[in-house]
Amino acid sequence: MTDLHVQIGSIEFSNPIMTASGTFGYGFDVPEFVNVSQLGGIVTKSITLNPREGNPPPRIVETPSGMINSIGLANVGVDHYIEKMVPPYQTIGTKIIMNVAGSTLDEYVNVIRKVESVSSDIVGYEINVSCPNVKEGGMEFGVDCALTGELTKSLRSLTERLLIIKLSPNVTDIAAIAKSAENNGADAVSAINTLVGMSINPMTWKSNIHTVFGGLSGPAIKPIGIAAVQKIFRAVTIPIIGMGGITNSMDVVEYMLAGSTAVQLGTVNYQDPSSGGKMIAELEQYCRDYSIDTISSIVGKVKV
Ligand code: DHB
Repeated sequence: MTDLHVQIGSIEFSNPIMTASGTFGYGFDVPEFVNVSQLGGIVTKSITLNPREGNPPPRIVETPSGMINSIGLANVGVDHYIEKMVPPYQTIGTKIIMNVAGSTLDEYVNVIRKVESVSSDIVGYEINVSCPNVKEGGMEFGVDCALTGELTKSLRSLTERLLIIKLSPNVTDIAAIAKSAENNGADAVSAINTLVGMSINPMTWKSNIHTVFGGLSGPAIKPIGIAAVQKIFRAVTIPIIGMGGITNSMDVVEYMLAGSTAVQLGTVNYQDPSSGGKMIAELEQYCRDYSIDTISSIVGKVKV
């Protein structure tokens, strides 16, 4: 039997495949043919202190080998999350990582304080310091080493659960920001969030996205994600959760060879929400074909 399990901080995941925040809702609204218990984990949509309606439509447009979105962090707010989502997570059958967003340091702190004050099975927090689509906060933190460090340090003092900082690719030196997260107590970093993109309708001359700019994701960004993971891998010792344009199991292998301990699937969920289960089966076959006993042994093993 191939061993697909991976370890991040104190938590063992049954396999390296997770779903990315914002692409799998809160983990409940998935079709019957999707077996979430196969997944290593689910990262839930960004939660802020108060509920948010998000940006006006159009909020999503397809682009060559990808899509641009500008949802504006639409979400139910932390109180609703605690009341309605947290209890059923006890029986969902996979590990839940809660993605948290905020406009100010205090907002992130208050969201995590609230969740920490109740009993829950959430295994960790992924901190969205890289949303490209809101006026305040979001990417402001993630493009600045000192601010990322300060935020990480504050949140570290509030929880013993996994603290994962989700990094923006819209920066000059992503490895330096990862290092700042590591130095201030992060258990892991995840990379990459979406890239700023724009798409215009040549007939109407209007932007295809209401907020003009949005976050580009999908296969178009995969080589950028792979490069980011490898740069971060050379700079830190904490685990990296890689993402950006994964559509099949060989993409997962590529991300792991570049230095990812685990990966997240995002845009591919819109095409096939059951793709994670298929990739897990394919990974097992790959390991058998290449005589790999434990998948974690390939992490960072790219020959350069
Ligand atoms: C949104 C947030 C993100 O972090 C992202 O990469 C894309 C979109 C949003 O809610 O608008």
